[in-house]
Amino acid sequence: MELTAAAIGVAVALSVLLLLSTAVNSAEDFIAASNLRRKSPTAGLCADVIEPSGFPCSEHTTQTKDGFVLGLQRVSSPSVTVRQRGSPVLLIHGLLMAGDAWFMDFPDQSLGFILANRGFDVWVGNVRGTRWSHGHKSLSERDKKFWDWSWQELALFDLGEMIRYIYSVTNSKVLVVGHSQGTIMSLAALTQPDIAKMVEAAALLCPISYLEHVTAPFVLRLVKMRLDEVILAMGIHELNFKRSYCNFDLLPIHPLHIVHAFSKLLITSSDIFSNLGTSIMDMMCDGHMDCADMLYSITGKNCCFNSSRIDYYLEFEPHPTSSKNLHHLFQMIREGTFAMYDYGMWKNLMYYSQPKPPTFDLSSIPSSLPIWMGYGGNDALADISDVKHTLKELPSKPDLLYLENYGHIDFLLSVKAKEDVYDSMLAFFTSLGTSSSY
Ligand SMILES: *[C@@H]1O[C@H](CO)[C@@H](O)[C@H](O)[C@H]1NC(C)=O
Repeated sequence: MELTAAAIGVAVALSVLLLLSTAVNSAEDFIAASNLRRKSPTAGLCADVIEPSGFPCSEHTTQTKDGFVLGLQRVSSPSVTVRQRGSPVLLIHGLLMAGDAWFMDFPDQSLGFILANRGFDVWVGNVRGTRWSHGHKSLSERDKKFWDWSWQELALFDLGEMIRYIYSVTNSKVLVVGHSQGTIMSLAALTQPDIAKMVEAAALLCPISYLEHVTAPFVLRLVKMRLDEVILAMGIHELNFKRSYCNFDLLPIHPLHIVHAFSKLLITSSDIFSNLGTSIMDMMCDGHMDCADMLYSITGKNCCFNSSRIDYYLEFEPHPTSSKNLHHLFQMIREGTFAMYDYGMWKNLMYYSQPKPPTFDLSSIPSSLPIWMGYGGNDALADISDVKHTLKELPSKPDLLYLENYGHIDFLLSVKAKEDVYDSMLAFFTSLGTSSSY
């Protein structure tokens, strides 16, 4: 079982989403989750998640400069009419997640619903490759080129395009709310004057620009093993754990098969690498670290999320991402930089005309742009010293909310997040004077 937990851990290594690992504490849990997944419809985020809670929701699509068709949802409150709509706010999710992440708990607990109820014009972002986006104008998901991107493109193309689209539809500057990778994207995008000029303010949960001080032992182990490079060298460009579940569904159900399926999940959906996956798991867990508490070893200790809702979360998470994205994130951990993707010296010269990738310069974020940040003492990914590094380089002084007992997932899924976190964020928006209709 340790092996199983470890394999899942790899899958979500840098992700916020340790939900997965917690969920497979027993084979029955896993099978139950698997059944749920098979049954779940994929009509769209509005129809599947938001409308069932009684919130009006419309689906939108927009195309990035490099041809990806992104899905956006616009959500309002059942009790707020269109004429009363307040400022547009864009919610931008983290790694291996998508727009559903903001609606996973009850309406009085989840940020997406809370903002809609407060009169905001809520827009839900979904980056390329996720279930709620719509592919590419010419590439198929089977093409290697479809997965040739990292958070750099998510920031400059996806987030830039979503903001531009909302700005043009609403005729109003946009409030941006990001979590985890969504904050890397936000901070990188805000260094670009043409994007920053369409943004009213930013609220960042678990803000990340530097990843030098990540403390999560399991993540550090994967970084040290160069798992990102191994995966790419093997020609695996898409990290899609749901696809592996499909293969799993074809197998007779037996706990040993679960281990087998998860070793596939780690490495590839093709059979030939499954033994390698298993031996990598052995290597990582035997004597090196305790894989029993995966949640703790990847995100830090979360105080307050509701583990009895995991079956529900698993109907949606994790969403696919690219191996190149994982590689870029691991580069940040290794090199301690907030920079563009590092291709190696020669290719860097070709792409960037310099041997090292250009850095994102936080000091070029406009000092007039109001920023709010919420960060936690138990967050093993957005470490306090990295948050301080970010703050040192920002030209403005963001409003800060520090919660000593919060881990990386709590900021999204804590059952008390409204009182602990979102009320402070809402007060920040209200203080801007332009926000909700209430
Ligand atoms: C935790 O989740 C369960 C299952 O959905 C739910 O019944 C319960 O009310 C939740 N608890 C809190 C505090 O939200």
